[in-house]
Amino acid sequence: MSRVFSGIQPTGEPHIGNYFGAMRNYVTLGEQYGKDSIYCVVDLHALTNPAAFDPRLLARRTYEMALANFAVGLDPSRVVFFAQSHVPEHQELSWIFTNLTPVGELERMTQYKDKAGQLESVPAGLLMYPVLMAADILLYKADTVPVGEDQTQHIELTREIARRFNHTFGETFPEPKAVYNKDALRIPGVDGHGKMSKSKGENSTLGLLEDLGSIWQKLRVAPTDPARVRRTDPGNPDVCLIFDYHKLFSDLPTIEMVNVECRRAGIGCVDCKKRLMEGVTAALSPIQERAAELARNPDDIRDALAQGAKEARAIAAPVMEEVREKVGFLKL
Ligand code: TYM
Repeated sequence: MSRVFSGIQPTGEPHIGNYFGAMRNYVTLGEQYGKDSIYCVVDLHALTNPAAFDPRLLARRTYEMALANFAVGLDPSRVVFFAQSHVPEHQELSWIFTNLTPVGELERMTQYKDKAGQLESVPAGLLMYPVLMAADILLYKADTVPVGEDQTQHIELTREIARRFNHTFGETFPEPKAVYNKDALRIPGVDGHGKMSKSKGENSTLGLLEDLGSIWQKLRVAPTDPARVRRTDPGNPDVCLIFDYHKLFSDLPTIEMVNVECRRAGIGCVDCKKRLMEGVTAALSPIQERAAELARNPDDIRDALAQGAKEARAIAAPVMEEVREKVGFLKL
């Protein structure tokens, strides 16, 4: 039997990188796997960023992340959807896994190195981040993990931890595999500086629920092919951020038109961006309308999260029973 698990951090508003890279796959796999697809707002992970030390903000973002996932089509009555802090077994399993994981391996994680490199004092939680992630996945014996490409190394470590546990305590966990959206492995930030990322702030992101006027302001000034200085210069769509976004938002004839016309200076960058904005509007408007509708009944979101936590715990409980017994905790 196959089971799906994925998590998303409530560290900021969800953006189109999260949407195309991961959330759309949550919906597709959710339709396929029903209650064997499990999704989690990972509020414990969010604490590894000291900027999250704002109790009201963390709670609000957890709620908003759930709402955004429901707005893109994830149906909490058909899948399992909850917040990580509501299922304490994640931390219990994580502690056991920390003892199977060499510190050196964690120090080699590229995301750890990137983030730790920017901090004066590095919280131990940041180093343990991928161990908690392994616990998230293996607590449900999930074997399929929809994520963006940036999570590859973490999933590889999860496989390693599963292997080590199985070797030490007997066959228990599957070795999970990442599932990617091959058209959206690593969506670039709208500022042109690397991957679109919540932690880089609003200049990098196009928010899923962001006001369309504000999205246009960002697209309007977004960098394009730097070699195309004048309107009459031919451009190269292969190095243009806007063309990357066209591939996500526009229909095939538009993508083809941009590809051809840009190369022979038949379309200017402003017009090209306007065409893109049409696709963005068509894709995001229905999501934003649905989000506004859902926001009218905040209690429904809370109820869905409470029900989701119950369902998650029901799946996690027998797995933790098995783990406790295998590890050798005294049974009373
Ligand atoms: P997070 O919250 O950073 O991102 C959520 C998902 O969005 C994907 N993603 C992207 N995909 C393509 N292009 C981008 N620019 C982009 N930015 C983000 C991420 O790959 C991710 O799939 N560590 C995870 C959360 C997590 C988790 C888990 C995931 C905790 N436990 C267990 C899977 C399984 C993270 O930081 O996601």
